[in-house]
Amino acid sequence: METKVFEVGNDPRQAGAAGAQIVRAGGLVAFPTETVYGLGANGLDGPAVDRIFEAKGRPNDNPLILHVAEKADAFRLWAGEPPFASILMDTFWPGPLTLIYYRSDIVPDEVTAGLDTVAVRMPDNEAARALIAASGVPIAAPSANLSGKPSPTRAEHVLQDMDGRIPLILDGGPCRYGVESTVLSLTGTPTILRPGAVTKEMLAAVLGEVSLALSILAPLGAGEKAASPGMKYKHYAPNAQVLVVVGEPRAAAERLSALYDRFTVQGQRPYIAATQEALPYYGDRRCALLGTRQDPTTLCSRLFSLLRELDREADVILCEGIGTAGTGLAFMNRLLRSAGFRVEYL
Ligand code: TXA
Ligand code: MG
Repeated sequence: METKVFEVGNDPRQAGAAGAQIVRAGGLVAFPTETVYGLGANGLDGPAVDRIFEAKGRPNDNPLILHVAEKADAFRLWAGEPPFASILMDTFWPGPLTLIYYRSDIVPDEVTAGLDTVAVRMPDNEAARALIAASGVPIAAPSANLSGKPSPTRAEHVLQDMDGRIPLILDGGPCRYGVESTVLSLTGTPTILRPGAVTKEMLAAVLGEVSLALSILAPLGAGEKAASPGMKYKHYAPNAQVLVVVGEPRAAAERLSALYDRFTVQGQRPYIAATQEALPYYGDRRCALLGTRQDPTTLCSRLFSLLRELDREADVILCEGIGTAGTGLAFMNRLLRSAGFRVEYL
């Protein structure tokens, strides 16, 4: 199958219309959102949703998010109104917040992977909403990467993974946030299953109290049940091995430099992903700049594309960790998963 790339440019409606033709016929379309690129299909059509799992090589017990163009469209997908839904939607939609609540009858099993809940979000991207509106159905979409790889934040990343597997990519340029949406469950005490650009602090300001799922910063223990099925799988991993060191800039740089030198002696090709604060301490070792620790949102937006870039240059990616306040939590969640939790805290 030939994969066509359609530039969104300044006509998101035309891009949405081109994508909707394929969606209505049961096909797959990759499209930009403000978080990462999604791989979309008609979310009310089970066999169309199955094609997403096939194209990504995704385990079919991992449920998908339904994307809507209007707030009101979310309520058809849930069995009743979730607690706090109105205030959360008014505050954060359109935007990078996914809400989970009990599903309604129109949601196919393929979307929820057999769970009794469904995840819904309204993306803050004109081409995405034009695609959903023109399709006339909610769009089921995971991130548009091969299962296990870093999520795509540019159309070229989608093409790297999906060339020949899907008919169309809508190219809307680089994604603003570069990490996937915050996933919040509303079936009990509001609980963050996956952190994102809508932070715990922002949610607490609206809800009062928010819990964090256990597995956000640590691997699931033996016998522990994943709050979100996606959390049990290997994730965001480039081919290179990723190692993380968390500490003050100078100490982290000294430890990462020692690891770098050891890997070099062993004949491996290491590369360092550094913050601005630690950059002066790496000497002439090969370093890529992630950004400043003062701005974890920018670190988030660069992480996945940097992992893909460094994968071409390195066998080992040595990366600094940061604190978990604000969007630091989303950064550390993705980084630790891409490292398979190989991390040292100094
Ligand atoms: O920003 C995003 O959320 C992107 C864009 C395309 O919207 N989508 C995305 O989808 O990241 P995906 O499939 O890569 O991640 C969805 C996550 C998975 O970890 C999945 O297990 C979880 O949400 N999830 C979906 N439905 C769920 C449910 N009913 N209960 C618990 N977790 C659920
Ligand atoms: Mg994903």
